[in-house]
Amino acid sequence: MEKYKQILKDNNQTHLQKYIDMCNEEERKNLIKEIESIDFDKLNKLYKISKRPIKIEKGLIIEHISFKDKYKLSEDKYNELKDLGEDIIKNNHYAVVTMAGGQGTRLGHDGPKGSFLLDVKPEPKYLFQILAENLIRHNQNYGITLNWYIMTSTENNDQTIEFFKKHDYFGYDPSYIKFFVQGNLPLLFEDGRLIVDKGYHIKLAADGNGCIYKAMKEAGILDDMESKGIKWIFIGSVDNALLNMVDPLLVGLTIKEGNEIGSKSVAKANPKEKVGVFCKKDGRPGVIEYSELPEAMAEEVDEDGELLYGESHIMCNLYSLSALKTIASKNLPYHSANKKAPYMDENGEIVKVTEPNGYKYEAFIFDGFNYFKEISILRGKREDDFAPVKNAEGVDSPETATKLYNDFWATHKSQNERQ
Ligand code: UD1
Repeated sequence: MEKYKQILKDNNQTHLQKYIDMCNEEERKNLIKEIESIDFDKLNKLYKISKRPIKIEKGLIIEHISFKDKYKLSEDKYNELKDLGEDIIKNNHYAVVTMAGGQGTRLGHDGPKGSFLLDVKPEPKYLFQILAENLIRHNQNYGITLNWYIMTSTENNDQTIEFFKKHDYFGYDPSYIKFFVQGNLPLLFEDGRLIVDKGYHIKLAADGNGCIYKAMKEAGILDDMESKGIKWIFIGSVDNALLNMVDPLLVGLTIKEGNEIGSKSVAKANPKEKVGVFCKKDGRPGVIEYSELPEAMAEEVDEDGELLYGESHIMCNLYSLSALKTIASKNLPYHSANKKAPYMDENGEIVKVTEPNGYKYEAFIFDGFNYFKEISILRGKREDDFAPVKNAEGVDSPETATKLYNDFWATHKSQNERQ
């Protein structure tokens, strides 16, 4: 029997034979190659987790985690931390990574999320442009050029690179920019069958922002950083119009506290806000994602009436290079999500769906925190640091992010001064 036939049989995927019989020679070769390259051991294990209710693992001890409030530091402490951080930045021991593997699906935007145009003042700007300008401001301030690494996905890599070229890298020196591509995983129908997509391809999706660590290792980014003497790395998202990628306070605090990882937070706006929240899991730092936080925990308050799990993970994460290497050597857990997955049916027709019909598997970036005893958390202010662009309308939409962006820049010259 041909190898692929045995694979289909052993893994309950014999429905794919119909597609193999139906397509042309070239498509057939590709499809068989795709089937043979799938790690079915891994995929079968992932499918087993799909149907489990999404909740916190039984027996896991969840506790409140402490943080430092940037606005409650004494003047001396503030200056001490700032000097420590600036020393790293000015000496070019600092680099920035942007996670841009996601598409703007929730936003209703067709293309890489960073190519979304936000109607800010004085003139509209793309999300990538806002990030580039943020870095350029810091470069000018410190008299350096920071290395900027951008993670894309197979879905948007070519488009992203073209977009940067077309816009002349938004004024950033391209020799300091490196793109790298994250991995993929197949999506599965709810009954565990692989999904065929247009062009007779196995339907794949990006494997989650937690796969960034392995992607950086495999693409040689960690080696590149080492060869350039980079010691501290900021990893941030593409979809926050107020993302400050160079905050010496965060670097200073993490070094001063003797930690290998740090993160910025803002107080959660309300118990229902769709953000992950920092906590301790079995004594180690972690984040509980909004989709997994039980309602009762979301509403718990401390003696001062503040939310017990109220430090929002705003995707402003800092790592020493050795911390990134440690995480890259581990296998982060995957989380499954029930998603709408359009597919090609057995007549070759593309079927659009209105209800979730499949599972997608993603690793989450903050699961990497678990390999360390402590994390330094610096609480900033929402209006300085967090203007998420997630949904087409309502909360965390272009409209709310534009207002936050305009309000901030109407009254500030920099994000690094305590106002
Ligand atoms: C994310 C965080 C959440 C946080 C919120 C703040 C995770 C798992 N969740 O939620 O804790 O409170 O942001 O805004 O991180 N991305 C990739 N590749 C992928 C998936 C995502 O590069 O495979 C990138 C996106 O381009 C984006 C970022 O990761 O820059 C956030 O991804 P998204 O999936 O939109 O996360 P949220 O659900 O908003």
